Amino acid sequence: MSKNQPRTLILLENGVLLCLFFAVLPAFCSVTVNLNGKWNLSNSDGSVFLGAGVPGCVHSALHQAGFIKDPYYRFNDVSYRWIAFDNWTYTTTFSASAQLRANQRVLLVFDGVDTVASIWLNGIVVGKTDNMFRIYDFAVRDLLKDGDNVLKVSLLSPVLYASERRNAHSAYRVPPECPPDVQKGECHVNFIRKEQSSFSWDWGPSFPTMGLWKGVRLEAFDVLRLVRVSSVPLHNNLSQWRVQVELLVDAVQTTSGRIALSLPELDSEQVLQTQFLPGKTRNVFTLNVNASSPVKLWWPNGHGGRRSYRLQVRGFQGRALILEAESKVYFRSVELVQEPVPGSPGLSFYFRINGKPIFLKGSNWIPAHGFQDRVDPAVLRNLLRSAKEANMNALRVWGGGVYEQDLFYSLCDEMGIMVTSLREGNVASCTAAYETQSVETCVFQVWQDFMFACAMYPTEEDFIQSVREEVVQQVQRLKSHPSIITWSGNNENEAALSTNWFNIPASQRPRYLKDYVTLYVDTIRALVQEEDQSRPFLVSSPTNGAGSEQQGWVAADPYDPHYGDTHFYSYALDCWDWRTFPRTRFASEYGFQSWPSFSALKPVSTKDDWSYDSNFSSHRQHHEDGNQQMLRQAALHFHLPNSTDPVKAFTDTLYITQVTQAQCVKAQTEFYRRSRSEIVEGKGRTMGALYWQLNDVWPAPSWSSIEFGGKWKMLHYFAQNFFAAVLPVGFEDGDALLVYAVSDLRHEVTLGAVVSVYSWSRPEPACTLRSDPVPVPGGSAVSVFKRPVAALLAACGGCTRLTCLLTFHLEDGGGGQRGPANHHFLCKPKDARGLLRPNITVTVRELDVGYVFSVALRSDAVAAFVWLDAGGVPGRFGSNGFLMVSGYRAVVFYAGRHTAAAELSGSLVVTSLRDVY
Ligand SMILES: *[C@@H]1O[C@H](CO)[C@@H](O)[C@H](O)[C@H]1NC(C)=O
Ligand SMILES: *[C@@H]1O[C@H](CO)[C@@H](O)[C@H](O)[C@H]1NC(C)=O
Ligand SMILES: *[C@@H]1O[C@H](CO)[C@@H](O)[C@H](O)[C@H]1NC(C)=O
Ligand SMILES: *[C@@H]1O[C@H](CO)[C@@H](O)[C@H](O)[C@H]1NC(C)=O
Ligand SMILES: *[C@@H]1O[C@H](CO)[C@@H](O)[C@H](O)[C@H]1NC(C)=O
Ligand SMILES: *[C@@H]1O[C@H](CO)[C@@H](O)[C@H](O)[C@H]1NC(C)=O
Ligand SMILES: *[C@@H]1O[C@H](CO)[C@@H](O)[C@H](O)[C@H]1NC(C)=O
Repeated sequence: MSKNQPRTLILLENGVLLCLFFAVLPAFCSVTVNLNGKWNLSNSDGSVFLGAGVPGCVHSALHQAGFIKDPYYRFNDVSYRWIAFDNWTYTTTFSASAQLRANQRVLLVFDGVDTVASIWLNGIVVGKTDNMFRIYDFAVRDLLKDGDNVLKVSLLSPVLYASERRNAHSAYRVPPECPPDVQKGECHVNFIRKEQSSFSWDWGPSFPTMGLWKGVRLEAFDVLRLVRVSSVPLHNNLSQWRVQVELLVDAVQTTSGRIALSLPELDSEQVLQTQFLPGKTRNVFTLNVNASSPVKLWWPNGHGGRRSYRLQVRGFQGRALILEAESKVYFRSVELVQEPVPGSPGLSFYFRINGKPIFLKGSNWIPAHGFQDRVDPAVLRNLLRSAKEANMNALRVWGGGVYEQDLFYSLCDEMGIMVTSLREGNVASCTAAYETQSVETCVFQVWQDFMFACAMYPTEEDFIQSVREEVVQQVQRLKSHPSIITWSGNNENEAALSTNWFNIPASQRPRYLKDYVTLYVDTIRALVQEEDQSRPFLVSSPTNGAGSEQQGWVAADPYDPHYGDTHFYSYALDCWDWRTFPRTRFASEYGFQSWPSFSALKPVSTKDDWSYDSNFSSHRQHHEDGNQQMLRQAALHFHLPNSTDPVKAFTDTLYITQVTQAQCVKAQTEFYRRSRSEIVEGKGRTMGALYWQLNDVWPAPSWSSIEFGGKWKMLHYFAQNFFAAVLPVGFEDGDALLVYAVSDLRHEVTLGAVVSVYSWSRPEPACTLRSDPVPVPGGSAVSVFKRPVAALLAACGGCTRLTCLLTFHLEDGGGGQRGPANHHFLCKPKDARGLLRPNITVTVRELDVGYVFSVALRSDAVAAFVWLDAGGVPGRFGSNGFLMVSGYRAVVFYAGRHTAAAELSGSLVVTSLRDVY
């Protein structure tokens, strides 16, 4: 904990300099005393007393102090349920100098309290909190004293609070009341403004956290305090910009002065007279960008570069500087285009960035840990870097978690990453060649939900009031980030109401509709539109967008593929059959479950747990029937593992669930990407594919492509290919095999398909066919190959659907391969004739000492879904889960820490489809 340090400039979370030139004008300087650090923590009867880090939470503190074991171990989520039923008190002592107390105003500021608390200073209650997503400040000057001051935060059990609130709401129920039993969670989470998934979810445990999850400090000032600076670029056209700058100012009394706004790199400056009224006020100014200085725009990955400009804000009273701040401005425009589509009923639904339609490719983001204090910069960077490496350009921050920390959005605005590029593949020298290192920047387009999910919500006055504060504060905090391209009011609540998930009798429906409109339209939408005119607002996801609005905000069918976005899940239908997927305008959620790797499960389990039907395996599965669904889907195409060695049977089953998930999401994503230019039977022009879900909150089966700890599942390696800028997609329609060339490039390319037929039993092509290259415009999907399957096989002597498979890639006019190779199975692999158990040998060679390795594989047979697992060695492969039709392949392994070649080869396990039965 650091005590009074006047004379320093204060750097707040958002990187804005807040303090003034104290040496010049002491009267105008605000002073900050940081109260983070080690506090004391105790439970209600005092039987537990320990030191606890702030920021932090009770569970983390108990674990760190050794009072409990790893909460993620085995059944500990249930064993430690008592923690969230108790009340907890955080206490600290600090001194407040006479100089600090001499200020006109001293505020006690909490950046985040989780969740229901009363705050005591020197024995007096200074305030209460009930919303995890708000910043709270309390005036405390007159309570401070010489010597030790005692600050106490008494947290009420969130489970108890939620149930009390539910009881107080006796007029009608607000479903779902409790989660399904399979989630082993707590009830009434919709009554508390807290991370909704912390009471359990279908992919996560119930750890209803409590604590001070963000910083605590004192802020003292005499004239005014600059609470926040935010800015949004607005434009007439893409060459004429203005920047709307908003200063949230807390003034002691009416203060007149001048505000100087400038963008020095754009030769733009403006000085305006202003008056700050007493109290907290929002002051909006507009800075016109000098037309003679063209701005560089912010573009999504693959569509152009980006740069930030420095915005300087200074306030003067006479000649005295009264405030000063600096922040970043990026210029970009975003439109959500909903307009009639020729040949199709309904409306289009796509994002246009800087006037250009962009296909959103990516995934859905959930909290990266059950305990937010464990989500450090390295965790965020690793996940975002992995998203970038899978060629994603968009993420949806899902509404059942938290509004992410500032760093998340800053990294999405622009993240520099060191790239080691290596050449992979069938290199004659049998190694991958080590090439260069460079720094690249990447960005993500963020679809930002408000934190309401899968439930009805109450609309009592105090609840709405708390939500109002939450929304205003979050929009003010986040709106300067160009990465956020849309706001969205909630997750699936329009669908829940419309399709009656909670069995609400028809007679009571109007009451729930009214609550829905009150919360998301009259409250959240109205506030967002007042605070931020620079990006669209959607009321829900999925929604019909403008179509829902026409139907009083709740559409009869929010999943209508002719409008808006859709969420689509089906576990029973054959996921290899594209006909089962909705040809939607925008797929914002779809997915399939898989299990994480054995190395992720080992630290949280014991030997007894290592079977697919153990209590542990059932306990970790929070989705009803999920484990059986995975096997049933797998069995549609594959032989299920049947090793007599129980541990091998278990690890083989983990593997087959990953194969199944990867192949299912591949099929669905490829369908969406190839549907971007077409209207078929009145449907199509799909412009987004965000699968569910990117990351995990704990080691357990889920829909994620990256398991807890950061290791990539097979799906994430598949995403590298199916999200590639240029992609060949093969599929059968009627009796024909078609190959589409999908291009997200900016410019036109000429592409033809090269299709090879392989026999399952021989690692060399039986024959190869080519199509003539055709022009493929930038941002389109074009059919480049069409041949009846029977003719294709007949042309390739002796092939049948059961004995052969297809591989294909795209070539440009010059014969160069564009995009990854792809393949198409003509039968279910379990019916394939001639697939032998391959003998795959692996050679590991170090390329860059300790960090980069070449892993060369030789196989004596065709091998499918070849999976390299480095066990406990952190890192990732250049590619994985691949088909080996020729007998050789070299991939690169990038180690996450310094690793010896012997350790890597000792840990490597290779599995392919034929190894599990
Ligand atoms: C927690 O505080 C509430 C409200 O004061 C009280 O009703 C409840 O009994 C307390 N719980 C425990 C375990 O003491
Ligand atoms: C925590 O409690 C101990 C024992 O009562 C006390 O010595 C210490 O000063 C307390 N720590 C803080 C930060 O208040
Ligand atoms: C942009 O708008 C300004 C002012 O309205 C106008 O002078 C200029 O010609 C426009 N530029 C383009 C490219 O349309
Ligand atoms: C605009 O930029 C030009 C050239 O850099 C400069 O001469 C001019 O003073 C600037 N105008 C304003 C209003 O800042
Ligand atoms: C599995 O859980 C059930 C019910 O809790 C219990 O009766 C049984 O003993 C457990 N089996 C094992 C092997 O732990
Ligand atoms: C696998 O291949 C290696 C290298 O060619 C050979 O030494 C080994 O005997 C083979 N194993 C089997 C089971 O065929
Ligand atoms: C496993 O399944 C395969 C394919 O059905 C079968 O050929 C093999 O005999 C089975 N092995 C065992 C040990 O049951």
